[in-house]
Amino acid sequence: MGLLEGRIALVTGAARGLGAEIAKAFVEEGAGVLLTDVLEEDGAATARALGNKAAFQKHDVTNEDDWRAAVAAVKDQFGGLDILVNNAGIAEGGRIEDTSLEDFRRVTSINLDGVFLGHKHAAPLIRERAGKWEGGGAIINISSVAGLIGLGGVPAYTASKGAVRLLTKSAALEYAQNGEKIRVNSIHPAFTETPMMESTAGKLVESGLAPDAEEAKAFLTALHPIGRMGVPRDMANAAVFLASDESAFMTGSELVVDGGLSAR
Ligand SMILES: NC(=O)c1ccc[n+]([C@@H]2O[C@H](COP(=O)([O-])OP(=O)(O)OC[C@H]3O[C@@H](n4cnc5c(N)ncnc54)[C@H](O)[C@@H]3O)[C@@H](O)[C@H]2O)c1
Repeated sequence: MGLLEGRIALVTGAARGLGAEIAKAFVEEGAGVLLTDVLEEDGAATARALGNKAAFQKHDVTNEDDWRAAVAAVKDQFGGLDILVNNAGIAEGGRIEDTSLEDFRRVTSINLDGVFLGHKHAAPLIRERAGKWEGGGAIINISSVAGLIGLGGVPAYTASKGAVRLLTKSAALEYAQNGEKIRVNSIHPAFTETPMMESTAGKLVESGLAPDAEEAKAFLTALHPIGRMGVPRDMANAAVFLASDESAFMTGSELVVDGGLSAR
C-alpha cells in the first residue's frame, strides 16, 4: 500500500518542475491530486499524464477568488483535502537599486502572499478530515536554501523565502496549540533541475557572470558539496515523507534538501 493511500492533495504551481514531480509522486503513493497553476495548457497536460487520480484547475495563488474556487474544486471532485503543497513561486531578481517596488511586490505576492492565502483558504477543509490520519493533515511550504542563508542578487526572492520559513513555524504552532491535527513543515531545496534553474543559469550568462549556459550550470553545480544539483524527485521524496504519517511527529520544522550547500 502506498504511503498516501486514500489521501487527497492540492499542489500549486504543478504544471511543471518541482510541483509536477510532487504531484506524480503523490499519485504513485496512492493519493488523488488536484494540480493547480496559471499555465493552463501545461497544467492540464501534466494532470492528464497522471491518469484518473489527478485533475487540473487554473489558479493564480495571488488571487483570493481563485483560492476559493480551487478549494471548492478539490472538495467537489475528490471529496475533501488532506495535504496542501504551497509550491508555486518565481525567482526574478536584480540589484536592489534596480528593482522597482512593483517588481519586489510581484515576487513576494506569489512567493509569500500565495502561501498565506493557501493556509487561510485550505486549512478549514483540511481540518474536516484531519482526525482520519495518525499524522493528521499536512501543509508543506516550498521555501529554498535562500530562506536559510542570504543569496545576493535576488532580494525579493530571498526575503520571501525567509518569510515562508517563519510563516510555516507560526502556522504550525497555531494549529498545534489549538489542538488541531494539521502539521506544517517547509522544504528548502538548493538549485534543482527545473525551468526555474534554467532561467537562473540564463541570467548568470546575461549578467556576464558566466560565458555560456554550460559554464553557468557548472558554476551552480559546484555550489553543492555533494557534486550535483538537485533533481525534482529529491524534493518529491521529501514532500511524500512530510505528507505521510512517517513524519507524524514533525511540525514547524525545516527539511533541508540541498546536497550540503547550506552546511558550508
Ligand atoms: N528549481 C530550483 O532551483 C529551486 C530551488 C529552491 C526553491 N525552489 C522553489 O520550488 C518551487 C517550484 O520551483 P520550480 O523550480 O519548479 O519552478 P518552475 O518555474 O519550474 O515552476 C514554478 C511553477 O509555478 C507556477 N506559478 C508561477 N506563478 C504562479 C502563480 N501566481 N500562481 C500559480 N502558479 C504560479 C509557474 O507557472 C510554474 O509552473 C518554487 O517555490 C521555487 O521558489 C526552486
